[in-house]
Amino acid sequence: MKASVIGLSWGDEGKGKIVDMLRDKFDFVVRYSGGDNAGHTVVRDGTTYKFHILPSSILEPTTVSVIGAGTVINPYVLKEEYDRLPADHGKLLISRRAHIVFKTYRHLDVLIEDMRDNKIGTTKRGIGPAYAMKMYRLGIRVGDFIDNRKLETHYNEIARFMKTWGLDMDDDLEELKFLAQFVAPMVADVEMLLWKNREKKILFEGAQGYMLDIDMGTYPYVTSSHPGLAGIVDSGFPPYLIDRRIGVVKAYATRVGEGIFPTELTDDIGEFIREKGHEYGATTGRPRRCGWLDLVQTRFAVFMNGINELAITKLDVLSGLEKIRAAVAYEIDGEKYDFWPENVLDLNIIPVYEELEGWEEDIFGVTEWRKLPIQARRYVEFIEDHLEVRVRYISTGPAPEHTIEIV
Ligand code: GDP
Ligand code: IMO
Ligand code: MG
Repeated sequence: MKASVIGLSWGDEGKGKIVDMLRDKFDFVVRYSGGDNAGHTVVRDGTTYKFHILPSSILEPTTVSVIGAGTVINPYVLKEEYDRLPADHGKLLISRRAHIVFKTYRHLDVLIEDMRDNKIGTTKRGIGPAYAMKMYRLGIRVGDFIDNRKLETHYNEIARFMKTWGLDMDDDLEELKFLAQFVAPMVADVEMLLWKNREKKILFEGAQGYMLDIDMGTYPYVTSSHPGLAGIVDSGFPPYLIDRRIGVVKAYATRVGEGIFPTELTDDIGEFIREKGHEYGATTGRPRRCGWLDLVQTRFAVFMNGINELAITKLDVLSGLEKIRAAVAYEIDGEKYDFWPENVLDLNIIPVYEELEGWEEDIFGVTEWRKLPIQARRYVEFIEDHLEVRVRYISTGPAPEHTIEIV
């Protein structure tokens, strides 16, 4: 069995929790895209872990965690995160094809952001520059990074490139060689390994969310990779073999960074959700913008990624709201839209909301469907009806046990 966990919105949907919850059912878990711009929170036995580059399965001793070809890896962050793991963590493998993020790329990220008229609000982790260097064919892959001679050649070439931006290398070659030694034992021909194990249980862990996709997202307010199924292709695995395509959607919407957000709430309700849901970035600490669930946006992501199971997270956060709304369509210049239009940035979108009754009861940690208040059940069924995908998981708290599974 093969599965993918894909964020359907602008990231931070709770992918880390869902992957952690499923980790012991899989032989391999592959983080397939993005870099340390991601912040995936795992809460186990009362301890909170925030993984930026490590797969959210890494605490599982019986599962092999993999960082796939489509990712960009900052070796400094990787070492720091790895060194903090408890002793009984699982095995980590890294694709030879993944690209390296240098410290200097972070400076370039900031420089580009400062130059722009419209700021993106990146995580300043050098992710855009790392993917750009890959596309320039100037990037350095992990397989070359661990070869001292190749590393030195690439380093000098990158230093020349950075000079054109007026930047000196902030990376020390000797330190990089030391990091390469640390990385080397984990490096493998991961794509061949996955092919050899194609009959085993493999889970693909998405980072970011589909609306941050470089092509399908709210360009230019996007990241530089493919958070959806296309990212799994980039990591060397054919999506037609993936039978369970789990889409993660929050019971409301959030976005961190700039860019269009049609259902954003800038009132007391938005503030209520932010405080109750602790909606502050796991990577940058920035307050997340909050709003109502947007089923037009989510429908687009469901379709594009062939989602056939939904995990609805943070339903518990909505307890205490008298009414709950969700956008079921958009009105644009008097016309109705059910599907995400391309030129969103130029359009005057008026979300068409449906309003449902809220509930008072605290549902934090509830594990049974029948223990949810009727209004909460109606809200879940309403989402299911509008997206035409079955809800398999309802998350009611950050730990894996805070989950209702509907079988
Ligand atoms: P990711 O990037 O998609 O993995 O999501 P983040 O970890 O950035 O953000 C999700 C946040 O919500 C984290 O702090 C999680 O611990 C927390 N969380 C996940 N699921 C739930 C839930 O169902 N209820 C509550 N209250 N918190 C949750
Ligand atoms: P997880 O995996 C939320 C956003 C940034 C910015 C844009 C571009 O935790 O869901 P980048 O640094 O990637 O060039 O920034 O993308 N962004 C995320 N937002 N969750 C993430 O990851 C994100 N990764 C990038 O805030 O708007
Ligand atoms: Mg996150």
